[in-house]
Amino acid sequence: MIWDADLYKTKHAFVFQYGNSLIGDWLQPQEGETILDLGCGTGELTAQLAATGARVTGLDASPDMIATARQSFPEVTFEVGDATTFTLPQQFDAIFSNATLHWVREKEKAISRMHAQLKKGGRLVIEMGGKGNVDSILQTLDKVMQAKGYHYEPFWYFPSPGEYATLLENAGFRVERVHFFDRPTQLADVNNGIIDWLEMFGKHFFAGVPENDQQAILQQVQHELAPQLTRDGQLYADYVRLRVAAIKI
Ligand code: BEZ
Repeated sequence: MIWDADLYKTKHAFVFQYGNSLIGDWLQPQEGETILDLGCGTGELTAQLAATGARVTGLDASPDMIATARQSFPEVTFEVGDATTFTLPQQFDAIFSNATLHWVREKEKAISRMHAQLKKGGRLVIEMGGKGNVDSILQTLDKVMQAKGYHYEPFWYFPSPGEYATLLENAGFRVERVHFFDRPTQLADVNNGIIDWLEMFGKHFFAGVPENDQQAILQQVQHELAPQLTRDGQLYADYVRLRVAAIKI
């Protein structure tokens, strides 16, 4: 997956804006403790964590995202690394991850790496897309692609609370808190929001689809979904969130 860090920051800032309460209410960072921000993107939340006095490392698989993060927040430590394979020299007091783990289909590997990189008693605080996330977008995309003779292949991992809690328990975590909830998420452009969202995050669905067919599919998905996803003149994606706090035992 190649990320456009500028497009991410300008049109999809909600990804990190929604992370604020995950920091303040769930993680509650303490001055001086070490925190890993796994899947830090362009580093906004990492910098927010660092501003609390915690010693923070931001990790992301995208060299472009890390380059942008380093440029924006030169005082914060950032590293390139994949969630399923990363190794860092120290164990952390806490690992934080916002809107990343649904990209990681080898979820057991990521959970095992997070467990290994936490101190005993260390906190894991995550938010990811949960079961049913963006269902209406994906179902409409599937239908429109099929109608045009293309195959739609599911891509993301959106677990139920029970499924993810069980994976964490099997890996040696004690799950302390779970919240599974709908969060309709406003898209920046009311006329093209679903197209923009799919162009930003869903490029992989169109591998092998000629550009003109891609555009036709995107236009059709936007056209079909807009009435269903518009409220008070604004367009919302049907996000479902899964938040979990767990302790390494
Ligand atoms: C999400 O945050 O739920 C999400 C973002 C991009 C792609 C898929 C899901």
